Amino acid sequence: MAGNRTLTIVKPDAFGAGKAGSIVAHLEKAGFKVIAARVLKLSDAQAGAFYEVHRERPFFGSLTSFMTSGKCMPLVLERADAVAHLRKTIGATDPAEAEAGTVRKLFAESKERNAIHASDSDENAEREARFFFPEAELV
Ligand code: CMP
Repeated sequence: MAGNRTLTIVKPDAFGAGKAGSIVAHLEKAGFKVIAARVLKLSDAQAGAFYEVHRERPFFGSLTSFMTSGKCMPLVLERADAVAHLRKTIGATDPAEAEAGTVRKLFAESKERNAIHASDSDENAEREARFFFPEAELV
């Protein structure tokens, strides 16, 4: 899936507030096609494994407890230059710093409760897509 696919998650703050439909519509308007989607409540172990790279950060416990606080919606998205384009479309991690019109500026509450995740490289997009979806759902 290198180059044209990425993984996003509508996080529990946005999903619980009924914003998933609006966010997916926003992503589709930005040119992304939904390849795979599911709705689930992450376990502590799943959230810890997904955010393994942040395990030593001071916000790790708070991040995993937020990410397990309710259902979330992972999606695999496709378009040209997917990783970079999705990160531009969602905006800065902190909504206070996000550009006007980005998903986080429109829908996020705070740096932690920031509505949406996006893979930061093709390699992580691949790893994160496989974390949530079996190969057969990615064709
Ligand atoms: P995400 O793109 O999912 O990647 C890691 C997440 O950690 C990030 O979005 C935020 O939700 C959270 N995060 C990053 N930095 C901080 C921080 N300084 N304080 C709290 N949460 C953070």
